[in-house]
Amino acid sequence: MSDSVKLTYNDETFEFPLIEGTEDEKGIDIKTLRAKTGLITYDPGYKNTGSCESSITFLDGEKGILRYRGYAIEDLCENSSFIEVAYLLIYGDLPSEEELNKFSKEITEESIVDEDLKTILKSFPKTAHPMGVLSSLTSALIAFNPVAVNVDSDAEMRFAVVKLMAKFPILASWTHRKGKGLPLNYADTKLSYVENLASMMFKRPNDVYTQSPVVVNALNKLLILHADHEQNCSTSTVRIVGSSHAGLFASVSAGISALWGPLHGGANQAVIEMLEAIQADGGDTKKYMAKAKDKNDPFRLMGFGHRVYKNFDPRARIIKSAADEVLTELGIDDPILEIAKGLEKEALSDPYFVERKLYPNVDFYSGIIYRALGIPTQMFTVMFALGRLPGWIAQWMEMRKKNEPIGRPRQIYTGSTDRKI
Ligand code: SDX
Repeated sequence: MSDSVKLTYNDETFEFPLIEGTEDEKGIDIKTLRAKTGLITYDPGYKNTGSCESSITFLDGEKGILRYRGYAIEDLCENSSFIEVAYLLIYGDLPSEEELNKFSKEITEESIVDEDLKTILKSFPKTAHPMGVLSSLTSALIAFNPVAVNVDSDAEMRFAVVKLMAKFPILASWTHRKGKGLPLNYADTKLSYVENLASMMFKRPNDVYTQSPVVVNALNKLLILHADHEQNCSTSTVRIVGSSHAGLFASVSAGISALWGPLHGGANQAVIEMLEAIQADGGDTKKYMAKAKDKNDPFRLMGFGHRVYKNFDPRARIIKSAADEVLTELGIDDPILEIAKGLEKEALSDPYFVERKLYPNVDFYSGIIYRALGIPTQMFTVMFALGRLPGWIAQWMEMRKKNEPIGRPRQIYTGSTDRKI
């Protein structure tokens, strides 16, 4: 097996080393390409370009495999809590009982935010999109934690991780409550991480709040399934912002904005809006399938297709069965679920989708569960961000600890050549 590749250009042959990962992935190391040949590569959307070496998440798009630090997500969903998975992603191994208790205790102690953040929250209109509010509040956290993190100090890095993990669910729940005109809840040090999230989101001052194990279990599974996904758009954003040595909170704030887009995390909101439109249209799925295939129509079948998965997204498989379980346990009969299943069945047998290997992705069914839990559609991508937070943190730390260079891609200029006024 060769360990390099040769490139011939202008009758000269250049050799570049191959790098290989632990899962037999191979890449051409072109760090010296421009110096040797004067050429750059051209790869819009980075479909064929590796930005880094990483030991955090492995996925195989052809086989539908997803592992966090080597553990299959199916196993983690069955056997771990979201906080255990967050620890795994950030620190590389599943925590011992002692490590988990310490991590959870530190997060509980930091599960409070400066009251002045309420002033910032109050300045938003109720109609503000929750992702815009969350990105702003996350960025505002910097003002209340002004000292930049010394990434070489494990203690300082740990404190930043704990603060962000602890305060993010508060900001997310306040974002939800603001949109509903409901009073803001505080964390309860007696509750677990996910119980706290549910309580802060749903507890109402005029009623006794009863924790629902169905809701907590569903949230735990959904947060785990969204926790990381190698170099997706928002994670790449967090990395490239962090590569300028901007802080962790600022980098995550940028990642939230990237996740907001309907082609990325915003798809979970777009899926439900699409399914509701189909329902309003009398369930005419064939009309929407035709629109999705019409090149003159910008409409896409939201929740379908993926840059990497050319097989079933393993997360979609787990979420689909969880949707059935949650709706049954909550006694909800949501016609939207049946429309989704009908659409999936049609798409999976339609040549257009089959030829392009377009399968349901993580966003296709997740909104159906969020809806059943009473979470407003505009909050779905906030729920995605809550899950993705430990992945963003882990990826940012890996990039900074490796002291990676600032991200600065090249371009092929196609504008005007030298002109005189
Ligand atoms: C997430 O990267 C990650 O890991 C992301 C994520 C994570 O965990 O971080 O997994 C989360 O973002 C999931 C994806 C959510 N987005 C959607 O569901 C939006 C709908 N999907 C598409 O927009 C699209 O599939 C993307 C954006 C997800 C992927 O787009 P690509 O890889 O750039 O592929 P493409 O746009 O080049 O499409 C290839 C072909 C095109 O047709 P042709 O030009 O070859 O004729 O497939 C078609 C596209 O028109 N196509 C679709 C389609 N997705 C692709 N046609 C109709 N409906 C779709 N959903």
